[in-house]
Amino acid sequence: MNRAGILLLVWSCLFICPSLFAQDNIVYIDPAIAPSHQEGFPLWAYGYIEPPQPPEDWSQNCLGTRPRDCDRPGGMPQDTSGTMLKVEGSDLAFTQTQITAPFSPADWFPGDHPEMPEVVAYGMEDIGMRACAICHLPNGQGLMQNAPVAGLSVDYFLRQLEDLASGKRVTTDSHKANGFEMAAMARALSPEQAREIAEYYGSIPFKPWVRVIESDTVPKFQASRNGLFTKLPGDEKELLGARLIELPEDTYNTNNLRNPRSGMVAYAPIGSLARGKEIVETGGGNSVACAACHGFDLRGTIIAPPIAGRQPSYIGRQLYDFQQGNRTGLMAPLMTPTVENLTPADLLALSAYVASLQP
Ligand code: HEC
Ligand code: HEC
Repeated sequence: MNRAGILLLVWSCLFICPSLFAQDNIVYIDPAIAPSHQEGFPLWAYGYIEPPQPPEDWSQNCLGTRPRDCDRPGGMPQDTSGTMLKVEGSDLAFTQTQITAPFSPADWFPGDHPEMPEVVAYGMEDIGMRACAICHLPNGQGLMQNAPVAGLSVDYFLRQLEDLASGKRVTTDSHKANGFEMAAMARALSPEQAREIAEYYGSIPFKPWVRVIESDTVPKFQASRNGLFTKLPGDEKELLGARLIELPEDTYNTNNLRNPRSGMVAYAPIGSLARGKEIVETGGGNSVACAACHGFDLRGTIIAPPIAGRQPSYIGRQLYDFQQGNRTGLMAPLMTPTVENLTPADLLALSAYVASLQP
């Protein structure tokens, strides 16, 4: 191509290229009304260090049939070199692109779980629905920015999909793209597919996944575009303050390799475990004891789901979503007396203590 040709290309790109990357229906909402900018919003639970700038309204971004339209691009690590990567304990090798392939993400340990249903392993490419395994992992352990789905009862799992589909369960954070993508996926699943997936994830026991440490400080960390915190290289620390910060035990294993055997470590303020235990066992003045519904070890009953040992960020988000009236399904009112008078410190303490229990 001659110089004029290149100039013409660059010139036309000025007009055409932006539209190739445009997400036309993202609405920026006024920070003054964005939930993530309100006082009391537990930024740590939603994966923020500072409130998102500008906050975006993803509820309007994926109302069609393609759940992937909600995906906020740029969240996944990129490496197109084609280098084959390995995970300790697995004989398999994948490239970075294969590991995060939206319609067939790597399955490092096929022996750790029964055969995955089609949609868990591959999603539905024709309608732009990513594989469940890319977020929740093939074994259902999940990451802090999504949800642990292993070991849930089939009834509870299906009820959540229904509530997400009907809008009775909405994330409080309008900026949380993956929460809205989740709801769009729930709308796209047939009842048969939903049941098959619920039975699959329900059959896998949830394994210990989070180590909770009380501390005044936390390693210096950053936030990804989609709500995963990762430790920065080096040994520097910063003050924890009134936050619970959940980090991968090993950043590279979780963020790049998506190793489903590599868990999380959560830093919680000193005293939060004792306060959390008090609330769980007695209600602690602002709440009600959890055992009556969640079982004495919080491993779930016919009434309420298992919560012991699950990601504290996820637990914190759910408590806040209930408190804000954004989980309103059939059984959600049972949680109202638990959450209505919780202070931000109580919510944090509960998240820390519940996550520290044996699942
Ligand atoms: C883009 C990432 C992503 C994908 C792919 C994904 N999910 Fe989710 N899922 C989420 C997020 C985010 C949440 C909710 C987190 C929150 O509310 O804070 C969630 C929550 C759930 C829950 C509720 C769990 C609970 O304990 O209440 C279920 C059930 C679920 N997902 C099922 C599925 C199924 C089935 C698929 C595949 C069809 C799927 N998910 C694919 C991100 C994802
Ligand atoms: C009166 C019964 C009841 C009590 C008491 C109760 N819960 Fe729940 N909880 C439920 C039910 C039912 C659900 C599921 C609601 C739904 O279907 O949306 C739930 C859901 C939850 C969830 C969301 C789980 C998920 O996978 O999304 C969390 C977290 C939770 N409860 C924490 C607690 C804690 C902590 C306590 C005690 C401080 C507590 N609950 C006390 C009935 C109860």
